[in-house]
Amino acid sequence: MLTLIWAEDQHHLIGRNGQLPWHLPADARYFRQRTTGNAVIMGKRTFESLGKPLPNRKNLVLSSTLSEQPGILLFPILAELANWITHHPDDQLFVIGGVRLYKELMPMADRLLVTKIDATFDGDTYMPAVNLDDWTLQSTEKHAADDKNRWPYAFLTYVRRPHA
Ligand SMILES: NC(=O)c1ccc[n+]([C@@H]2O[C@H](COP(=O)([O-])OP(=O)(O)OC[C@H]3O[C@@H](n4cnc5c(N)ncnc54)[C@H](OP(=O)(O)O)[C@@H]3O)[C@@H](O)[C@H]2O)c1
Repeated sequence: MLTLIWAEDQHHLIGRNGQLPWHLPADARYFRQRTTGNAVIMGKRTFESLGKPLPNRKNLVLSSTLSEQPGILLFPILAELANWITHHPDDQLFVIGGVRLYKELMPMADRLLVTKIDATFDGDTYMPAVNLDDWTLQSTEKHAADDKNRWPYAFLTYVRRPHA
């Protein structure tokens, strides 16, 4: 199963200066719980923003300029990555950004996990449009702000709508 996972603000903002625009521990925990033990797929900038491969996960990185390094499976072109995905239908694969990968792999995805943060931030990187005709909202889990999480947020799960 291929899942796109991301967090966005009210205006679909996802990044600022190569980093996340917010600090929201509950979302970081959700991301870790969902992806641990599985494979994460990312572009070069997202990989660089993490600083190192994510532990206990298979790290797939798409980049034509990075060199091979321990802990990652490197794909220089999208077609090779798409081919790898096609050959791992029984694995839990999570696309974790950034913009081009979300856009290019959305047609192959089975599920979207979206954290909606009920606030607006400054930034420079926005989630590509999602055509909601293609997706059914399966669940919404709302949370209020608290001591550690400064803004209200919700975890949304969309599954691909079956073809008519
Ligand atoms: N809020 C969230 O959930 C979330 C999630 C992920 C990222 N982010 C944020 O988003 C920003 C990073 O995302 P980004 O969109 O700027 O960058 P990105 O997609 O992570 O990285 C872009 C690079 O990835 C490689 N790449 C991507 N698509 C490719 C393709 N189709 N073919 C070949 N190479 C491809 C290219 O590297 P080469 O130039 O080496 O070929 C490209 O320069 C950061 O601010 C990060 O914190 C936020």
